[in-house]
Parts: sequence; structure tokens; C-alpha cells
Amino acid sequence: MKQRIVSGMRPTGKLHIGHYLGVIDNWVKLQNEYESFFFVADWHALTTKYDNTEDLRQDTIDVVTDWLACGLDPDESTIYVQSLVPETAELHIYLSMITPQHWVEKDPTLKDVAKMIKSGDGQGICYGLMGYPVLMSADIMTFNANYVPVGIDQVAHVEITRDIARRFNSIYKVDLFNEPQPLLNKCSYICGVDGNKMGKSYHNDIKISDTEEATTKRVMQAITDRSRLRRDDLGHTDQCEVAFKYWQIFGSESEIAEIKASCESGQMGCADCKRKLAQKINERFRAIREKRHYYEQHPEEVLEIIRYGSDKAHKAAAEVLKEVRKAVRIY
Ligand code: TRP
Repeated sequence: MKQRIVSGMRPTGKLHIGHYLGVIDNWVKLQNEYESFFFVADWHALTTKYDNTEDLRQDTIDVVTDWLACGLDPDESTIYVQSLVPETAELHIYLSMITPQHWVEKDPTLKDVAKMIKSGDGQGICYGLMGYPVLMSADIMTFNANYVPVGIDQVAHVEITRDIARRFNSIYKVDLFNEPQPLLNKCSYICGVDGNKMGKSYHNDIKISDTEEATTKRVMQAITDRSRLRRDDLGHTDQCEVAFKYWQIFGSESEIAEIKASCESGQMGCADCKRKLAQKINERFRAIREKRHYYEQHPEEVLEIIRYGSDKAHKAAAEVLKEVRKAVRIY
């Protein structure tokens, strides 16, 4: 029996190459080794965007389209949408009954989000947002997962899940739930072209779905060595804020050495360097983008994959929920 992994992403729309390098590429590698469940967390989107759901459906499709393009395989992985597996909502109720309030109040991510949220009607943050980590625990425990492949920012949530799983077992005197462990991504961190965290709202990202022209345009905006004013000034790769960092991710060892040498000897200017870099990035994403184009042209196939995966997930979840109901003594 393979061990199980579960992970999800909120439907933020078209994903950027940071999502690919940081998360999706890792999922693609793990999907053969584990029984895998990957889902779009549309309920989690509602914790902050309950009053702005116009694009929610399309954003969900866009995320799954990106996943498929990157190589998530619907025959290997169960790809589903959170709201199509109602067992998760039911489990969330049981878990919310046993989760001490101070566990969710001390959640560090929640504190950050709560600070950012300015509710339009002056009502502050909602009850559902307080339950974010409990809902996330339900996502993971609905399949009684062993591991959760996530970025470092989500580890605190997986820790709450472990605490909740342990507490459930202890309160109902069962040995039902595993205490799931985070599986940290071994992937690269990539900053945006301005050197800050890559993000859609910062307009510093390169989308998986961008054209080669758009990618080149973005790469040409990348910050380089700020002390290098003229083309024949000697460059300093250790002070290059973005472009050389990208080379270290996308270049081969010999290419990186070559770029370093021609930059530091003043032979190659920053514009030429970035033009080459853009080509390199476009090569890396060419096949992925072709595949994405195919799915964009066949949205009914994407929907069919979501329906098929959600049905599979629902059946697997029902088995766990049967045990949960028995343990809690619910009819
Ligand atoms: N909170 C995660 C994020 O913002 C998304 C998520 C929701 C998730 N439920 C999950 C990740 C369960 C892993 C497992 O990225």
C-alpha cells in the first residue's frame, strides 16, 4: 500500500513560475510514489473573498489547467475541487467542535491575514476565516493522509492538524487518524523581476501561461547589478539582484560559469544577458505551454478531469467519514 499525500492551492487564477518551481514540480515528482490527492481550495478562497466570487469558477479552471500543463497526471493523481467533496465540510464540523479556540487564535498565518483584511462593511474578519486551519485540517484528514507536501509557510498549519488528529484520537479513544507530517519542497525559491516575492498583485511575475514575447518583456525588466551604469563597466554577479539568480535556476553549470565570466569581464552587457536568459526560460516552459494551450482549447476535458477526480475523492472520503461517524457516535 502506498502512503497518502494531500495538498491544495487556493484558486488565485493563472499561476506563475514561482508556483511551478516551488510546489507543482515537486507534486509531479511525488505523484508516482504516493497515492496523491491535489485539490483547488475554493472554500478557503471564500474565507477572504466571500464578497468577490465573480471569477471563482474560472480561476479554479485556470489553476487545474496549469497543473495539467505542468504534468500532474489525472491517471496517477486524484485532482479535485474542495467544494465537490462535501465530506470535508462534514469533517470540518466535527473537528471544529474539538479544537480549542486558542489553538486557532495563535495561528501565525491567520494573524497576518487578519491584519491585511479590511472588511468593506466594517465588520472585521469572519467566523470562517478563524476556522481556516481547522478546514485545512479537515482537507488533510478527510483522506487520513500521511504527508502534506507544502511550502515552509504552511508548516504551522500542518502542526495544528497533527494536534487536532491526536486530540480526536484521544477524545474518542480510537486509533483512527495518522498524525500527518509536512513534506517540505526541495525546490527553488524564485523572486519576482523586481527582487521582491513573486506575486500576481505585485506585477513582477512570469505566468506559466504567458507568451514567449510577454516573458521576454518581463525578463528584460529584471533588476541586475545597480552599480553597473555603462555597458562596458565590469559586472558583479554577486550583486546582481535578479538576473543572475534566475540563471542559477535555469542555466546549466557551464552556462552559469560562462555568464559569470562574460559579465565580470565586461564583455556582455545586462540587456544581452537578459535576452539570453529569456530564451532559456522560454525553452524550459515551451512544452508546458503547448500542453496548456491544448487544455485551454478543450475546457470540457479539464471539467471532465475535475468531475472524475472529485468523484474518486468523494468515494475515498466517504470511507474515512464512515469511521469518523462511528467514533463520534453520530448516526
Ligand atoms: N492554505 C494553503 C495555501 O494557502 C492551501 C490549502 C488549503 C492546503 N488546504 C490545504 C494545502 C490542505 C495543503 C493541505 O497555500
